[in-house]
Amino acid sequence: MGKNDRDWIPDATDLDFIESLARPLPPALAAIEAAARMPRVPIVDRDTGRVLAVLAGGRRRIVEVGTAYGYSTLWMAYGQGPDGRIVTIDPDQSRTDLARSWWRQGGIADEQITVVNAPALDAFAAADPALAGPFDLAFIDALKPEYERYFDALRGRLAPGALVIADNVLWSGRVSGARPVDPSDANTNALRAFDRAILADMGFLGTILPLGDGLLIATVRA
Ligand SMILES: C[S@@+](CC[C@H](N)C(=O)[O-])C[C@H]1O[C@@H](n2cnc3c(N)ncnc32)[C@H](O)[C@@H]1O
Repeated sequence: MGKNDRDWIPDATDLDFIESLARPLPPALAAIEAAARMPRVPIVDRDTGRVLAVLAGGRRRIVEVGTAYGYSTLWMAYGQGPDGRIVTIDPDQSRTDLARSWWRQGGIADEQITVVNAPALDAFAAADPALAGPFDLAFIDALKPEYERYFDALRGRLAPGALVIADNVLWSGRVSGARPVDPSDANTNALRAFDRAILADMGFLGTILPLGDGLLIATVRA
């Protein structure tokens, strides 16, 4: 018997109940969801977006690695409110230009979100003042084999009590072995190493929420 054996797990009725209590989805977020379906652009799922908004509340300075169409960015911007500031990194300007149009549609002032169009590791190494920090929240959602190096680059830029969040850390069951995977799969191996390293890091207190594709959250220990 595992530690998490229990006689109840949420089913569709529970999920429908949760959905029925949610506030209406802002049209800009709905527009991004629709655009990301075809051609498919990977974005966090809506439940993860809602959690990001909650976690962004009260965190004024956010850095994000991996913008795409700005869906997770917009959830966090809504959670922060107009005084918040987000710096988001993605080398694909064709995506981030579209993201900006949806952020504007969603009522977010341009100065709330700064885009850095470069590979994240280059941007961190380039001493761009926009990335100097300190940040109150860092959200990682770009190249899986680089997650540990993003974390290494970020750790010196985090404020006391800051939160680090990373998406896809269960990688659809491949990381735990629930789903068969080629042992040489680079994404799976990198995510496994990342999960182990962060949860064992004495400078952080972290866990993994079995939400979406797996959401790691870790806070800087005081
Ligand atoms: C999973 S998507 C991000 C989704 C977004 N966080 C969301 O949920 O709305 C990953 C993004 O990482 C970007 N990317 C690829 N290489 C990168 C790099 N070296 N540094 C930063 N971002 C990168 C891709 O262009 C892609 O848009």
